Amino acid sequence: MRILITGAKGQLGMALQSTLTEHHLIPTDLPEFDIVERRNVFALFEEARPELVIHCAAYTNVDGCARDPELAHRVNTLGTQNIALACQKADAPMIHISTNEVFSGDDPAGYEEWMTLSPHNPYGRSKAAAEVAVQTLLNRYYIVRTAWLYSAGGRNFIHAILRAAREKGAIRVVTDEVGNPTNAADLAEAIGRLIATEHYGIYHFVNSGACSRWAFANEILRLAGMEHVINTPILGSEFTRLSWPPPFCALHNRNGAAIGITLRSWQEALADLFQDGVEA
Ligand SMILES: NC(=O)c1ccc[n+]([C@@H]2O[C@H](COP(=O)([O-])OP(=O)(O)OC[C@H]3O[C@@H](n4cnc5c(N)ncnc54)[C@H](OP(=O)(O)O)[C@@H]3O)[C@@H](O)[C@H]2O)c1
Repeated sequence: MRILITGAKGQLGMALQSTLTEHHLIPTDLPEFDIVERRNVFALFEEARPELVIHCAAYTNVDGCARDPELAHRVNTLGTQNIALACQKADAPMIHISTNEVFSGDDPAGYEEWMTLSPHNPYGRSKAAAEVAVQTLLNRYYIVRTAWLYSAGGRNFIHAILRAAREKGAIRVVTDEVGNPTNAADLAEAIGRLIATEHYGIYHFVNSGACSRWAFANEILRLAGMEHVINTPILGSEFTRLSWPPPFCALHNRNGAAIGITLRSWQEALADLFQDGVEA
């Protein structure tokens, strides 16, 4: 299948290229391909003639989105709308990658696929609006929500923790942000299985189980052999951030499980990454 990937240089884009090797992939990213430039999007689709599009491109800097919500809207919402319109014209189904931050995180029980969107920061709002655009414009789409993505080469929480631990010898991490750490390679593998089903709909693909950022950091330190580093539990209110993440935002994968697609536990997936080697 001819699959066009947006955001191909990002964490998930790279993992998809390593995983979907039996397909003809068309990787795209900045600076050559900007999803905001509608005419270029249409021109590329005309030339590439994709049979499926996996839309990973996004402005993922959550604090940056709070600083510049207009930019977040332009890239995450209008950029996604451009991709959905191009898919409509090309009659190609679309996989839109979304986030747990489309939910408010006020419910300690976590979130299932059908629940009403309730974003409370500019990143979450721009991604929720993107979901609406996809659902409004297309009949054949998958919305895949994920959370706390990491990969060996990406900019992510693991690298931030290891760097801080090495540089400061002690870290302070919040206990009141709960989510599902997710290995980008596992997500790519689940997406590979999903596209073979043509079972369109909304999915929550995250490694199973949830934890706080503090517990996630403890596991990272343990796997890195840095248990001696003191990890002090704190509350989000003890420091200032431009954008508040949703506090209890675990996702439950019910729709994927119903068609046989589940992801292993977050601890196993994280241990696998460390086995392959992680650099701070
Ligand atoms: N990372 C997470 O924890 C997380 C959690 C939940 C959901 N998600 C979603 O999962 C998807 C993939 O995330 P990721 O971690 O792979 O993100 P990532 O590593 O930040 O990659 C995103 C890619 O999109 C590119 N991009 C940004 N603006 C663009 C534009 N206007 N046109 C074309 N490309 C553009 C980025 O380029 P530059 O680097 O040059 O800006 C980057 O290569 C995103 O939709 C994200 O919202 C991520």
